[in-house]
Amino acid sequence: MSFVEPYMLKNMYEYLKPVEELWQPSDLLPDSSKEDFFEQVRELQGNAGNLSYDLLAVLIGDTITEEALPSYESWLAMVEDTSRNEQGGWLTWLRSWTSEENRHGDALNRYLYLCGRVNMRQMEISTAHLLADGIDVQTGRDPYRNFIYTAFQETATNISHRRVASLAKQSGDTLLSKMCGVIASDEARHAKAYKHFMQKIFEVDPNEAILAFEDMMRKRIVMPAAFLREMGGKIGEGFAHFTESAQRTGVYTATDYIDIFRGLIDEWKIETLSDLKETGEKAKDYILALPDRLTRVAERTKVGTLVHQYSWILA
Ligand SMILES: [Fe+2]
Ligand SMILES: [Fe+2]
Repeated sequence: MSFVEPYMLKNMYEYLKPVEELWQPSDLLPDSSKEDFFEQVRELQGNAGNLSYDLLAVLIGDTITEEALPSYESWLAMVEDTSRNEQGGWLTWLRSWTSEENRHGDALNRYLYLCGRVNMRQMEISTAHLLADGIDVQTGRDPYRNFIYTAFQETATNISHRRVASLAKQSGDTLLSKMCGVIASDEARHAKAYKHFMQKIFEVDPNEAILAFEDMMRKRIVMPAAFLREMGGKIGEGFAHFTESAQRTGVYTATDYIDIFRGLIDEWKIETLSDLKETGEKAKDYILALPDRLTRVAERTKVGTLVHQYSWILA
């Protein structure tokens, strides 16, 4: 971290935007101080009425995931580093990242509140559960594992918000489409930053870096909302339903998981990585063979067709 923190401090503004230039949720949503507010809400509700049941469920799951941001910030703040310097690269990045991410849950929540199709109390209970249940992404406090995880995860959220944006557009909801589109582009910037930080580590410590990559892929990348549940349900049950809705709508699939993984292999030039010890060479072989293995598993896996009745969605 003492190597990578100065680098972060110098380069993070390539991936962040100045606060006052960022989009804010109020740029996108009806303004309650305006006379045409109710008209705009009626229009929003009319368009939201056309979203499919599964797509609305995915959107709610995405929103709850975003709203559990306090868990992610406190987990990332625990990353081991040598300085614990408030003005150092890592904590400065983490605060700025949080300030950008915080808009995502705000915007989506406000849309869902206005759309008239959501049992907000049930959704809020799920959010409260997820915050209280926490996360277990198996990175420990190790920076390498954390950057590998976040590089993967930010790419996954970019894909899923982008897909919701295009499905919303297809069903005529331009407001939601635009909102998910701008969120997706934030996620893409964040993904680039984490990939870049990790790239630096691959340059100076390739053997430990590839061992961390192998370890994370062996454990599988667990989504941050893995503990999601509905009122009265068990930890993780809500997530299982959410995952099926995401697969059925094509918002996030097993194939996406593999594509992201392949993208990271390219990004970090794993194939041409040299100066590895024997352990590192073994890890490299494992990583390079894994995408094809996962593809064979994905081809055999069937997605459930039974649509779960979510407490979040009004009949
Ligand atoms: Fe986000
Ligand atoms: Fe994100």
